[in-house]
Amino acid sequence: MTKKTILIAGGAGYIGSHMNLAAHERGYSTVVYDNLVYGHKNAVQWGDFVLGDIADAGQLHLAFRHFQPDAVMHFAACTYVGESVTDPEKYYLNNVATTLNILRVMREVGCRNFIFSSTCATYGVPRQFLIDEEYPQTPVNPYGKSKLMVENVLADYATAFDLRHVNLRYFNAAGADTQARIGEDHNPETHLIPLVLDATAGRRPHVSIFGTDYDTPDGTCIRDYIHVDDLAEAHLLALEYLFDGGESESFNLGNGQGYSVKEVIDCARKVSGQEIAVVESQRRAGDPPVLVGNAEKAARVLGWRPAMPRLEDIVGTAWTWHKKRFCEKI
Ligand code: UFG
Repeated sequence: MTKKTILIAGGAGYIGSHMNLAAHERGYSTVVYDNLVYGHKNAVQWGDFVLGDIADAGQLHLAFRHFQPDAVMHFAACTYVGESVTDPEKYYLNNVATTLNILRVMREVGCRNFIFSSTCATYGVPRQFLIDEEYPQTPVNPYGKSKLMVENVLADYATAFDLRHVNLRYFNAAGADTQARIGEDHNPETHLIPLVLDATAGRRPHVSIFGTDYDTPDGTCIRDYIHVDDLAEAHLLALEYLFDGGESESFNLGNGQGYSVKEVIDCARKVSGQEIAVVESQRRAGDPPVLVGNAEKAARVLGWRPAMPRLEDIVGTAWTWHKKRFCEKI
């Protein structure tokens, strides 16, 4: 049987590159299509690579004609919540308009399976602890709105055209490849765990805690951290679901377990055996106090069970990679 081919838009980025590795190890042919604005060429060590922009429909068309993918996984997006507030046009152009390009080219060449990187940011500021997929989607920033717009486009396309999709709503992606071949490397970095590890490794003087007066047990924000390899596994299961004829669907991807900012910092102290300097600062605008996902639907329908739910393992893999990438001597 010939291997199925997946086109991974944004496959040089953090989650996309772990996806590319997981798909390769599962026996798929992969084509990473990435403009390398945020991604890293050295994260693409498996499969084919096309240096291309999804804004360029002509080049996309050529890549689809050449590689004839059976499915598309779409990770290419701008993901800075704060920036989306000050420059919404960038988010609607890069996250919505360019996705329409991909979908048009898919229709032109007859590629019918689409897996979309959505986000818990589409739920806005939830009023309950565990959010399931039926919870109303009322995003509070242009980033979340841009992702919800694409979900709505996909629903209409599924009705009008023969194009099936799975929306995967990630909670907080974290951790790194267990063999430390690839990991998280954003520029600028805004995510908690890599910033904590920077402070652990002495690359930053301290880590700031954004708000200690939230209505949570220790006053700091609670998030549902999910290992990036567990996210990749969910994509593979979603892909098999579509290949088996499954209907278009949406799934939350989280561990269903929340950890506070202080708990994450304590965990990094434990994992690394190092002291970490902390500065308590003001709240960051737009942060919901608690975001924890109910992913029972992904377990029930896709058979997804996270393999690395423990925070120690998530932070541990991130720390191993962080040391290799940034500070061999530690
Ligand atoms: N935090 C700090 N100090 C820091 C960085 C973060 O205290 O230096 C806090 C944040 O305030 C937040 C928590 O750590 O409470 C996690 O912050 P991250 O920036 O790591 O992650 P977010 O929860 O803000 O963002 C994630 C995804 C986004 C997505 C968002 C949905 O990374 O892509 O969830 O709310 F949009």
